[in-house]
Amino acid sequence: MKVFAINGSFRKQGNTDIIIDKILEGAKAEGAKTEKIFIDDLNINSCQGCLECRQEGICHQQDDLSDVVKKLEQADAVVVGTPIYGNYMTGQLKILLDRFMGVISRVTYIPGGGIKSITRLEIKKRNIVSVLAAGAPTPECADDALKLLRRMLGSLANDGTMEEIIAVGINPKGAIVFPKEEWIEIAKKYGIPEADREAYAEKAMARNIEVLNRAFEIGRKIASE
Ligand SMILES: Cc1cc2nc3c(=O)[nH]c(=O)nc-3n(C[C@H](O)[C@H](O)[C@H](O)COP(=O)(O)O)c2cc1C
Repeated sequence: MKVFAINGSFRKQGNTDIIIDKILEGAKAEGAKTEKIFIDDLNINSCQGCLECRQEGICHQQDDLSDVVKKLEQADAVVVGTPIYGNYMTGQLKILLDRFMGVISRVTYIPGGGIKSITRLEIKKRNIVSVLAAGAPTPECADDALKLLRRMLGSLANDGTMEEIIAVGINPKGAIVFPKEEWIEIAKKYGIPEADREAYAEKAMARNIEVLNRAFEIGRKIASE
């Protein structure tokens, strides 16, 4: 069982990264082999729009794309994480997904009208997890990013499970694991009255613990189903 994780954040040990690590910890507890990459560590150019991949299934740009696609193909479970930037994913994850377009799938016409997307990768079940970390207090900010992730990653699943983790209200690096004192400082900065700061901190911590516990359980699940 191989679990392959792609992190679209720029921050190592940031919120997305900590959640991804929790998923991988759960997967390892079930005996899975795990690998995580940061897109920011790779050389991934922007799509040039030539559309040749749609015909040939390969991109002619010489960079790290083919390595990432190989790892996706070999994986039994795939985790893709991104912070929410401007109500969407990070630019670097979008660049990678644009490059996947004709390389991981091809479009075929349905007799009578319409089109459907068919995978070019080995057809095997892959369990999929999308991870989104946001500063906003409610999860709607992830809606648009999820639309593209569901479509692109769905084409890899072949009846695998599709899980989603949306962590909200976490802005500073590592806030997902902040202790009470740091949350009280954040409450102060937000102008929350002193009498309410402790309750605010406890609520944030409880929400974060719930996200991380769920991430661990999802990690176990994707490695065992
Ligand atoms: C350029 C930029 C744009 C952002 N836009 C949003 C946004 O639209 N909505 C939101 O909820 N958070 C937004 N955030 C906050 C991040 O999503 C948040 O800090 C997240 O926890 C970062 O995850 P990371 O630690 O994995 O990098 C933005 C942050 C940056 C740097």
